[in-house]
Amino acid sequence: MIKIGELELGEFPLLLAPMEDVSDPPFRAVCKSNGADLMYTEFISSEGLIRDAAKSVQKLDVYDYERPIGIQIFGNEISSMREAASIAEAAGPDILDINYGCPVNKVACKGAGAGILLDIDKMVSMTSEIVKAVDIPVTVKTRLGWDENSIRIVEVTERLQDIGIQAISIHARTRKQMYKGEANWKYLAEVKNNPRIHIPVFGNGDIDSPEKARLYRDQYGVDGMMIGRAAIGYPWIFNEIKHHFATGALLEGPDLEERVAVAKRHLDFSVEWKGEKLGLLEMRRHYTNYFRGLPHFKPYRTALVTSEDHKEVLQILDEVSRVFAGAAF
Ligand SMILES: Cc1cc2nc3c(=O)[nH]c(=O)nc-3n(C[C@H](O)[C@H](O)[C@H](O)COP(=O)(O)O)c2cc1C
Repeated sequence: MIKIGELELGEFPLLLAPMEDVSDPPFRAVCKSNGADLMYTEFISSEGLIRDAAKSVQKLDVYDYERPIGIQIFGNEISSMREAASIAEAAGPDILDINYGCPVNKVACKGAGAGILLDIDKMVSMTSEIVKAVDIPVTVKTRLGWDENSIRIVEVTERLQDIGIQAISIHARTRKQMYKGEANWKYLAEVKNNPRIHIPVFGNGDIDSPEKARLYRDQYGVDGMMIGRAAIGYPWIFNEIKHHFATGALLEGPDLEERVAVAKRHLDFSVEWKGEKLGLLEMRRHYTNYFRGLPHFKPYRTALVTSEDHKEVLQILDEVSRVFAGAAF
């Protein structure tokens, strides 16, 4: 049984990766009902939380049915991160997660996210202050290192464990790789092979099918996996992987009716939660995957991603349902 503090997560938990503008409550709701064992919010700026910025505060919303749920924060100032950790804890999550992996310039070049991989001592001090500031378990999400010449993930994991983090998720790329090239999970095996490590180590990077999940689980010995991009518009991936682990067989993908129903549910919640404009906008990245494999879908996709009217999008989805009824994927 994999545990983070007192939270029991099953034998091999599947985590929904924190993703900015993606892993919001509407998307988390559909991932939860399709088998995600642990989910995280989008990353939240510590400075935004302290200044009470509306965008940051809204990201603190967590619901009981989502549990266990972690709130993720990022920042480069130890004192701000400590304060933000307490603000986040007050929102009632089960876990507080620290983002040490974001590679984008505006974050990493200020020393936040993956930027802190250039200063491991600061990473350890910041984490230590946050662990002391909150009562809930603290977890970390990071990358292998800044670049291929500075991969110290075995040492980093050990030091963070020693100052009290209770699990780590490692995206098996360096900051320099951004999202390019292949994730290199051999370093995850090295972390797991360190006999001093006793906290759960979750692997992340490029898991996009049940077969790959099984292969990587068996090959690298991680305690669970975190899935990001493959879940966008395809929340069924969690149960499909679980089914494959349990039976060795592959589940048939969702039929059209199921895809339309889940897309509608996701859409309605998005509009309710973010308002019509932003709700519609943020749904757009999901349609391709919701309907991937449907031949001649393009004109409908174009209509879905250009409409600015909630009712109209629902009508397009109904039309998809009618026109493609019985289609095989
Ligand atoms: C659109 C997008 C937004 C992301 N936002 C975050 C974030 O807020 N916090 C974080 O730790 N990682 C973030 N990531 C990185 C993912 O959590 C994950 O580490 C990465 O996508 C690799 O996993 P995958 O190959 O399963 O997608 C983001 C990734 C994407 C594609």
